[in-house]
This record gives sequence, C-alpha cells and structure tokens, in this order.
Amino acid sequence: MKKSYITFAIETSCDETGVAIVDSSGLFEHRIIVNLLASQVKLHTKYGGVVPSLAAREHVKNLPLLVKRALKDYGSRQFDAIAYTDTPGLEPALLVGRTFAKTFAYALGIPAYPINHLHGHLFANFVQPMSNSSGLFPAVGLVISGGHTQLYLLPSPTEFNLLGETLDDALGEALDKGARLLGLPYPGGPKLEKLAKRGRPSVFTFPTPMLKSNDFRFSFSGLKTSLLYKIRDMKIKKLSPQMKADLAFAYQKAAFDAIVEKTKNALAQTNGRSLLIGGGVAANQTLRAQLQKTLQQEVGNIPFLVPPKGLCTDNALMIALAHAVPHFASR
Ligand code: KG4
Ligand code: ZN
Repeated sequence: MKKSYITFAIETSCDETGVAIVDSSGLFEHRIIVNLLASQVKLHTKYGGVVPSLAAREHVKNLPLLVKRALKDYGSRQFDAIAYTDTPGLEPALLVGRTFAKTFAYALGIPAYPINHLHGHLFANFVQPMSNSSGLFPAVGLVISGGHTQLYLLPSPTEFNLLGETLDDALGEALDKGARLLGLPYPGGPKLEKLAKRGRPSVFTFPTPMLKSNDFRFSFSGLKTSLLYKIRDMKIKKLSPQMKADLAFAYQKAAFDAIVEKTKNALAQTNGRSLLIGGGVAANQTLRAQLQKTLQQEVGNIPFLVPPKGLCTDNALMIALAHAVPHFASR
C-alpha cells in the first residue's frame, strides 16, 4: 500500500480565509479531505477594495473557527506537515496565517513550510488526476490574479523561472478598476466578464498594451486611463447599458489580447510542452476560450491545464498542493 502524506494548509494572504487537509500518495495523487473557505468579499465591497487591517481582523476571527471545523471533519490531529501562505500578499493578513501555522506546528511537533502564494495558484492544477504528467514539462505557467500577472517557465513541477511580469497594475486589478469606472461594484472582474458578453465588437477599441515590447512584461495602468478618458470625452451624463457593455467588451479584449499574445510567445520561445494557468482571472470563461483557441490554431495542440473555477481564486487547497507535489517530486 502507498504511504499517505497528510498536509494541513492555511491561506490568509488577502480577503479569503482558507483551511485545507489533503492526503497525498504520489506526485499527482491527492485526495481532498477538507477544503474550507470564509470569504470577506462582502465586508470589503463597501470600501471598493480590500482594507488590509480589516482583512487581518477577519482572519483572526475566522481562522480558529475553520481550523476547529476542519479538525472535527477530519477526526484526527495526525498530520505530516503544515503548509502556509508566507508571501506575497497583504502583510497584516499574512502575519495572521503565518503566526497561527507556526504555533500550531510547534504544538503538534511537526514542521511548518512557507509557501509562495503565486506558485500555489499554479499548483491548483494538480488537484486533477493526470495520467501522463511527465510529458507536461517544461511547461509555461501564467499567473493572473488580483495582485500579480506573471509568466513562468517551469522546467519541472518544482522549478519556477520568472520570464516576466507586470510593470504596474495586475490583470485582475485592471479589470476591477475598469469595472469600477463602468459603475460595477468590487470585485468587478466577474461582473465585467458578464457585461462584456453583451458588448458588440468593434464599437470601441483600446490599444493592446505592450504588444510590441518583444519581452514578457505587461502594463495595464495605461489601459485604465484610456477608458477613463474615453468615458470623459463621450460627454454623456449617463452611459446606456449597451454603451457600458460595448466599453466592457473592448476593455477586456485589449487586456486579454496582451495576455494571449505574450503567453503564445513564451510557449514558442521556450518550447513549452504545456500551459498551466491560475489566479482569480483564470476563472474567466472568455479568456480561457481565447487561450484554448490560440493554442489550437497557433501553437499546436498541447495540454492546457486550468484549475476548476472555484480553485482559481484564493484557497488553501492550492497551498497544500504547493507543498505536497514538491514533497513527492524530491523523493
Ligand atoms: O487570485 P485572486 O483570488 O486573489 C489574488 O491573489 O489577488 O484573484 C482575485 C482577482 C480579482 O481581481 C477578481 O476581480 C478577479 O480575480 N476575478 C475575475 C474573475 N473571477 C475573479 N476576473 C475576471 N473574470 C472572472 N470570472
Ligand atoms: Zn491569489
């Protein structure tokens, strides 16, 4: 019988408190025992974004409750390791999870492992069973979250070589800011996606940022300014629902075209054998479809790994996997 390895994971980098327990028996063999999430989105909506000190206070309140429930559901205190989000994220929020994880590990007499949250987003893909995992690497990894936009080359499941990242706003942040300009509440990314589906192509266009930069860097702050000026120059007191949808379409398209183009180039330049994506914006169906189509038509039919929609945004399961997968890779 294969030895099982139990990871207890904690995520508190932003506005979601997460606790997960995963039973792993191989590189790509993971059984989810517990995956709990307490969202603070409603609390932060009225401020139009996440307030770090409030987020930390909510984590202090919610983390012990989730841990208690996880232990009850699991029915044991036997773990091999604690994995916790160490960085990046909102420092007051991270501090809550870090301190809890280290104290809990000390009390249980087991090791606590710091996890990079962004690598965690890509590890969310490994929740799905994979039959031919060896053929996936070297892979290109695309992290598209509220705080980061990064392209990686992964020579193996445990090596992350950063190819490039955003110079200013992250993709999720740009979508949230654009959505706000169109009167949508925080977090605007999913609402903008819905609105853009009713938008007509070619009514408005925005330049695709950094298209000609010939590298893997992104920039989205200028796009947001273009939308601001476009709305101002239209000199209309109240934009009609159709106008808003048309603007949403064009805005999202310009941002996604930059992502798709650079990802395609990264795959070509590195001879990547698969594409892994992760982070909140990876939940966007329009972007998923656009990436899929480009892979098929311009790159070749390589595997395209996308986490289940609910595991694109922050969660502790991906943090557990970010520890468990490398644990088995190093054996
Ligand atoms: O990964 P995540 O949960 O948090 C960070 O680590 O930042 O990502 C949150 C971001 C937000 O900007 C949110 O608007 C965006 O992901 N997001 C989406 C969608 N779902 C979440 N953006 C576009 N379309 C979606 N369906
Ligand atoms: Zn995240």
